[in-house]
Amino acid sequence: MNKDRILVTGGTGYIGSHTVVELQKAGYPVVIIDNLSNSNRDVLDGIERISGIRPDFVEADCTDMEALKALFAKYPDIKGIINFAASKAVGESMEKPILYYRNNLNTLMNLLDLMGPNGVKGIVFSSSCTVYGEPDVNPVTEQSPIKKATSPYGNTKQISEEIITDVINSGAPFKSVILRYFNPVGAHPSAEIGELPNGVPQNLIPFLTQTAIGIRKELSVFGDDYDTPDGSCIRDFINVVDLAKAHVIAVARMLEDKSDEKIEIFNLGTGIGLSVKELIASFERATGVKVPHKIVGRRPGDIEKVWANPAHANNVLGWKAETPIDDTMRSAWAWQCKLRERGIM
Ligand code: UD1
Repeated sequence: MNKDRILVTGGTGYIGSHTVVELQKAGYPVVIIDNLSNSNRDVLDGIERISGIRPDFVEADCTDMEALKALFAKYPDIKGIINFAASKAVGESMEKPILYYRNNLNTLMNLLDLMGPNGVKGIVFSSSCTVYGEPDVNPVTEQSPIKKATSPYGNTKQISEEIITDVINSGAPFKSVILRYFNPVGAHPSAEIGELPNGVPQNLIPFLTQTAIGIRKELSVFGDDYDTPDGSCIRDFINVVDLAKAHVIAVARMLEDKSDEKIEIFNLGTGIGLSVKELIASFERATGVKVPHKIVGRRPGDIEKVWANPAHANNVLGWKAETPIDDTMRSAWAWQCKLRERGIM
């Protein structure tokens, strides 16, 4: 049986590209829309080298309603949407809040507006553990309190969740699954796709792998005086392919009406909190490559510790993050080496 077409917004991005591969593996035809603001066309080649299928691609911005309408006219068979298209840098969002509110919220509202008239049955939304702020208790469940956002980026995730909830509760003829990611890391084991940061990486793993390969002199560990066993911050680092697989399950759940709920929320994490220092140690152990690093002051706005209770996703979706962290670190390193080999970085 032919599967329904899935529209993946932001599908040439980091998590989007890995999800496209998993969708294709599961037999879904995909169309990607991406404005290439933080990715490039070569990602399509990487996807094709892994799956043997080149996804359809539309270069356009999801804030452009006319472009979206044209896309739905061209692909009347779209039945599901996975919305990755968003700006995602916390620091940048402090400097350019309007950019974040405009990109992230207008994209979502345009999609929600067009779903009903185009017969789309469901939308998966990329949310974040950032909605929990600094949790009072770890691990966090989906019922943990939502804390006031500390950045415009984080606020767009909270507001987006509220917009989806209001639209669904107003009787919209579709479903939604909201996925709250913890810290996605690593790359596809083939090293054909991975994270491609623009400029100096703000996130830990790209900075770490760039340091390991010599692009950066030294990794700064932001603080070792936190109230954690080794003093560095704790996160729940989840393998990006594991994360991508959860999207395929979420899409199938909506399109096949496997749940009576019109809106569902899941934490996607491993359930294991790992410190920044432990992560560096894992990378060095897994790859045999040393990462020059030094301890510096805390980064303003950082959360001390947060990790997931993934039981809801484990039990209801039948999904589990399985890749051991050392394997994930090896995949991140293989990707960095591939970028070097290709003369990209
Ligand atoms: C943040 C957001 C998250 C968002 C993600 C996307 C919060 C609480 N979290 O994650 O929602 O999806 O950005 O970019 O807003 N670190 C270093 N040295 C570095 C870089 C990072 O020590 O050079 C440390 C940080 O202090 C932190 C950990 O590594 O403790 C992870 O940092 P990062 O990868 O930036 O992700 P988050 O801040 O957790």
